[in-house]
Amino acid sequence: MSAKSRTRTPARELLFGNLWEYDPAPETSSPQLQDRYTLFINGKWTAPRTKKFFTSLSPRDGKPLADIALAGAADVNAAYQAATSAFPAWSKLPGAERGKYLYRIARLLQDRAREFAVAETLDGGKPIKESRDFDVPMAAAHFFYHAGWADKLDCAMPGKTLAPLGVVGQIIPWNFPLLMLAWKLAPALACGNTVVLKPAETTSITCLKFATILQEAGLPPGVVNFVTGAGETGAAVVNHPLAKKIAFTGSTAVGKGIQRALAGTGKKLTLELGGKAANIIFEDAAIDQAVEGIVNGIFFNQGHVCCAGSRLLVQESIASAVMQKLKIRLRSLRVGDPMDKNTDIGAIHSLKQWEKIDELVKAGVAEGAELYQPPCALPEDGYYYAPSIFTNVSLSHRIAREEIFGPVLSVLTFRTPEEAVEKANNTPYGLSAGVWTDKGSLAMKMAAELKAGVVWANTYNKFDPTSPFGGFKESGFGREGGKQGLLEYAELI
Ligand code: NAI
Ligand code: MG
Repeated sequence: MSAKSRTRTPARELLFGNLWEYDPAPETSSPQLQDRYTLFINGKWTAPRTKKFFTSLSPRDGKPLADIALAGAADVNAAYQAATSAFPAWSKLPGAERGKYLYRIARLLQDRAREFAVAETLDGGKPIKESRDFDVPMAAAHFFYHAGWADKLDCAMPGKTLAPLGVVGQIIPWNFPLLMLAWKLAPALACGNTVVLKPAETTSITCLKFATILQEAGLPPGVVNFVTGAGETGAAVVNHPLAKKIAFTGSTAVGKGIQRALAGTGKKLTLELGGKAANIIFEDAAIDQAVEGIVNGIFFNQGHVCCAGSRLLVQESIASAVMQKLKIRLRSLRVGDPMDKNTDIGAIHSLKQWEKIDELVKAGVAEGAELYQPPCALPEDGYYYAPSIFTNVSLSHRIAREEIFGPVLSVLTFRTPEEAVEKANNTPYGLSAGVWTDKGSLAMKMAAELKAGVVWANTYNKFDPTSPFGGFKESGFGREGGKQGLLEYAELI
């Protein structure tokens, strides 16, 4: 073999040849699905007054999973009435008693972790290893953490008491359905609020399964109500006069509309919207670890992550070395059936999202950026996209400015820390950023200057219930997690 052809051979093939292919390792546990789900109002399964249902598909193969009730304004109203009736007793319960419910919920979710992981992966398309090792355990962790707060609300702010707000309306997206439900429900309940929650229309199943956990935990009827449906149902949740607060996670466009709708109503609002995070690699960084951080930053959950490290800023002196290692690493990523335990990148969440990603990738090519995709066979059914990296990207390109929400990385270079800060902050968003360097002082300086709610140093996409998460600018406002997140669900008196 000539030296020239040797340098072209990808690392995995060099090591193992083409013979070493993984056998399929399908997850076989049952997700325990029903064919049809009605609404969960006042602790009971309730047929929608609209009499309408819609179908939730699996992005894995495009096949139907279950029928979901379409809640109309009258259904949303019934949910608010139930939450309003449940509020006095729930809010007056001693914190330690509310805490017991939250602990029970957390433990029941742990007991049924496998079943929930499978349901999450089937409905949303994320790899089973992520729903099993991240989404479900983190959701349980949020209930455990907030269970601990429930009887310590008097200690949260010296000299002040945290009083509940009343009924809160919550709207969550499809990228982390169960985890976002936990982020929203746990602090609201710990503080003594009651809830009307709407999951995303494409991923209602784990939310509705969660209702059975609430029943098993003996949560009083009406404390939590689930209404399912799309934007119109969401708008009814936002605009209901009994809501004292709205918490929303989703697109910036819908978030802005909600803010306009709530102006002057006196309702509290928290918005967690999109992002276009910079993942910044300095020349003194541990390159192999940084490459893992880049891969995790953009390909975790197919890049359907609001804080995804979708813009790689790499110092010019190491750019070619980083790109070479990154391309080799990309060839070892396994794209395919999300139910296979070896899969790294699962199915794109929906045809609509696939089309959005493809449109932006085509725009990147048309605007002159250079696209790299490793050779990989994609399943024929379902929605799949090859991991994609763009070089020769300029700040004005759409792929450098717009949230793609897919497995697509835009690479830019910089020479000095000042240039890195300027480029990183040159975006309407401000949710997260990553910094990779051997120098603690440089990491601290960058963290101070980057306009982002979360800055990770020498890691990426690390979450913890104790750590507040939220954005600046068009990424929204308010924090979730930690004491700061708790305060969003209380009035200080
Ligand atoms: P979306 O913002 O429409 O959906 C999020 C949630 O809001 C869903 O539960 C939806 O039913 C609800 N909703 C939609 N219209 C509403 C309205 N008028 N009033 C109240 N609730 C409403 O997001 P979509 O269309 O699913 O995704 C579009 C893009 O948004 C994605 O490509 C991505 O860029 C971004 N996105 C960002 C998320 C994040 O975590 N920051 C999550 C989901 C999407
Ligand atoms: Mg679905």
